[in-house]
Amino acid sequence: MNPIPRQVRDPGRTDGLLLLSDITAAPDPHVHYRQLRARYGNVAPVALEPGVPAWLVMGYRELLTLVRQEHVFSRDARNWADYRSRIVPADSPLGPMMFPRDNVIGADGAEHRRLRAPLDHAVAGIDLRAMRRAVKDVCDGLIDGFAARGRADLVTEYAQAVPLLALAGQFGLHGAAGHELLAALAALFGSGTDSQAGNRSFEEILRSVRDQRTHRPGDDLTTALATHPALRTPDEVLQSMVVMISAGQETTTIWIARTLARMLTDDRFAAQLRGGRLGIDDALDAVLQDEPPMTHMPARYALADTELGGRPIAAGEVLILGLAATGTDPAVHTGTPSPGSRAHLAWSAGPHGCPARVPARLIAHTAVETVLRRLPGIHLTEDTTAISYRPSPWTRFLSQLPVRFPPNPGA
Ligand code: HEM
Repeated sequence: MNPIPRQVRDPGRTDGLLLLSDITAAPDPHVHYRQLRARYGNVAPVALEPGVPAWLVMGYRELLTLVRQEHVFSRDARNWADYRSRIVPADSPLGPMMFPRDNVIGADGAEHRRLRAPLDHAVAGIDLRAMRRAVKDVCDGLIDGFAARGRADLVTEYAQAVPLLALAGQFGLHGAAGHELLAALAALFGSGTDSQAGNRSFEEILRSVRDQRTHRPGDDLTTALATHPALRTPDEVLQSMVVMISAGQETTTIWIARTLARMLTDDRFAAQLRGGRLGIDDALDAVLQDEPPMTHMPARYALADTELGGRPIAAGEVLILGLAATGTDPAVHTGTPSPGSRAHLAWSAGPHGCPARVPARLIAHTAVETVLRRLPGIHLTEDTTAISYRPSPWTRFLSQLPVRFPPNPGA
């Protein structure tokens, strides 16, 4: 009889543990966070997949410790015992977000700082006034496409397109070139047979603008990266472009969709549509507080036996950033959050904290503002609680946001 290989996953290791994807799929994940906290405290055992355990860090203070103590908690998945021993198979759906990558996201220490400096430099050089105008044009262009119809799906026809087109413009891909990149990305993430072709064409488009700017610098993010001395090879430039676009695309889409959903359903924000008190930034902040775009963020890997939130963590174990849970940690938040509160960790913190908070807010703010300005009388045609999420352990991506509004044929 063949011995059972050690690599076989043992679902018994996670018996009784909650699956991360069950939390993100729940109508209100905070119900689960409250139950987990009551049972385990701020650092709770959960399952990434049946047989693959992880720690979910739900405390505000514990999360800050996790992301700041880089010498104890690494970002590099090669330090994950279940990855090294192949308990997580090579074709696991966890791969794209968790397996090792030679880019800024998977690097620690000096190597991380080297790859991160060009991103910070590029973001700091953005002309925000010009960007606001460009993003407004993108938003207006998309709304022109459906304004006369009197109805739209604000996820697929709007929130999903705005961040990519806005970012493409910042990389020097305007107009049709931006739409080409959007089509390539849609093919890449679609499950159809054009997925591989989409990947090639996505990188092809970015490679081509990189090569152009290397020879003839312009005034955009591509030039800032292509001419930065810390990036040693053309491929590092390309990977930095890919990382920025892929890190910004889905997160900003979710932020826009959730904020629109909230403004169209929550009375406090709906009043704003009729000249009330709370504005778009309040709604954007409220979303970051209790339903941030990255509900759960992978990951850190313990480099040594240690302790967090009173839990013993063994070397090689994986910890997930419970960003949504920290927004309602009772140790920090007492009572209802006040409007405009930014006491959340939606952007994470420490060396890997999001480098693009300012442009991301600019994109999301402009996207929400343009809908409210262009489509007066807009309302949701379905209760948001009836709308499903794309299954994922990491995000709560509304599959659609159907709306109606008085048709605007002049658009
Ligand atoms: C213009 C849009 C955006 C861009 C270009 C962008 C870019 C990035 C990049 C490159 C990183 C990796 C940084 C590193 O590892 O050093 C990152 C991390 C991150 N970003 Fe963003 N991002 C954008 C929007 C957002 C939004 C809207 C959110 C949510 C509010 C968000 C939340 C995060 C989080 C939680 C991390 C991970 C931090 C960690 O691992 O500790 N980002 N982002």
